[in-house]
Amino acid sequence: MMWKEKYKIGVSLIDQQHEELFQRVSEFIKVVQSKGDWELRLAKVKETMSFMQEYVVFHFDAEEEYQKEINYPEAEGHKIAHKQFKEAVGKYAARLETEGFNEELVQEFSGKLMTWLIMHVAGTDTKIGDYVQRQGGDA
Ligand SMILES: [Fe+2]
Repeated sequence: MMWKEKYKIGVSLIDQQHEELFQRVSEFIKVVQSKGDWELRLAKVKETMSFMQEYVVFHFDAEEEYQKEINYPEAEGHKIAHKQFKEAVGKYAARLETEGFNEELVQEFSGKLMTWLIMHVAGTDTKIGDYVQRQGGDA
């Protein structure tokens, strides 16, 4: 999974954070799908899991803050989408803790994470950029 120019919403702070997220998720997927001893790959998997949990919250907060600043009319709905995303990541994190970091579950999670991220950035976040443009402002 690669970061694509078309995912840019035109707000540089958010675009930079999105790019970072995509890079991390794609690294994560590479490690999850690579061959070799699972135990050896596990350290990277765990590191990415904790990064994702922290960075997703940091990024969502920044994005929500920006929406407030620009009086974005769909901010409430967007916040709900973020909450659901965080909950979904949190559920997997909890399952991985209780069920153990087995390869199959991590693979399932990495696939979902990629889908959620693309859907959210391409489907929901791009609307922020559209709004800024409609307002005639520079994002
Ligand atoms: Fe968002």
